[in-house]
Amino acid sequence: MSSTLKKAFPIFASRTERFHYLDSAATGQICAAAAAALLGYETTARANVKRGVYPLADAASNAFDAARASIARYIGIDDANEVIFTSGTTMGLNLLAHCLTAELAPGDEILLSELEHHSNIVPWQIAAARRSLIVRAIPVKKDGTLELAAIEGLLSARTRIIAVAHTSNVTGAISDTSRIAEAARAAGAYFVLDGAQALPHGPVDLKRLGCDAFAASGHKMFSATGAGIVWMNKELAHRLPPFLSGGEMIRTVSLKGSTYAPPPHRFEAGTPPIGACLAMGAAAEWLASLDWTAIESEERRLTRRLLDGLSATAHTTVLGPAGFCHRRGIISFDVDGVHPHDLCQFLGDRGIALRGGHHCAQPLMERFNLAATTRASLALYNDDADIDALLEGLESAVRLLR
Ligand SMILES: Cc1ncc(COP(=O)(O)O)c(C=O)c1O
Repeated sequence: MSSTLKKAFPIFASRTERFHYLDSAATGQICAAAAAALLGYETTARANVKRGVYPLADAASNAFDAARASIARYIGIDDANEVIFTSGTTMGLNLLAHCLTAELAPGDEILLSELEHHSNIVPWQIAAARRSLIVRAIPVKKDGTLELAAIEGLLSARTRIIAVAHTSNVTGAISDTSRIAEAARAAGAYFVLDGAQALPHGPVDLKRLGCDAFAASGHKMFSATGAGIVWMNKELAHRLPPFLSGGEMIRTVSLKGSTYAPPPHRFEAGTPPIGACLAMGAAAEWLASLDWTAIESEERRLTRRLLDGLSATAHTTVLGPAGFCHRRGIISFDVDGVHPHDLCQFLGDRGIALRGGHHCAQPLMERFNLAATTRASLALYNDDADIDALLEGLESAVRLLR
């Protein structure tokens, strides 16, 4: 199956040398559908959106609306106007941190977790410093999952926002969103979900996940860099103030003051990354057409192979959940006595693309008493040859580098 899927990603046919791409949690490779949408718009259909009335501009605006609708369907949302285009998860979480905290009073609390990407920590810290808010964090258990039993003790009458990752970009652990949603509801807090690592693994149903707001990136779901989305429920989006300001987010402007457009435009100031948004819509359409039961079962099989192989490799410790159910194929490991950067360089020279470092999750590294790990992350195009290459390469690395 992965060989058929591989054909839908132009990069694999373009490489003549050994190429085992195991860094999809950093960025996924672009699929042909997204690449065609990007190139088609930029070369033959380019006009700004929501401005001109000539046919080319009209067509661009219609394609932009259609992309929004495709993404809404991929995340289980009926009203496409609840989807706001951003430049990616980082901008989305900044938007949410800025806008949601505008309603808060000094002393109100925000609950994050120890496993968050810096993009879901720093924007809240900056907002907290500005508005004298308190930031707390759900601890992480030894197996890399959230210590949800601690939530009750961390919530207070002042908790207004809970913001956590759907899937850890370090360990692949999937959060128990229904328990967190329940806790948020009971506390009367908004539940913000960082979905950066969720969308590459198939469609999601945000209604079932129970969040009030969600952010994700196009480039991680096999589209172009430069576009992403925020989803917010309608009532919330209509109530919140803008984030960035300028053209296209207004209703009226006078030198005395301005009024704002309704969502989604209120949150989409300036010319959006149109080509990348169209590409994200095309990726969502293509991904939605795939057999995710089969893809998921293949990802589980490869994850199991990799986890078993790593556990059998001398001096190697895997972080994160031991099972295959509540995790994705994002696997961080530590090789005692070998720095992740040396390991990634050694394996990179042998055609194996991995990521070494703190993965923008320094609090989680601290939790595990590590400065850095090596991470292999799987996507729908990986196959047994990728796992074999990594495990064989790692054996040599342990022999030669330790
Ligand atoms: C869980 C998580 N959140 C947020 C981000 C930030 O995404 P982006 O760099 O696309 O804005 C990432 C990127 O790796 C991530 O893995």
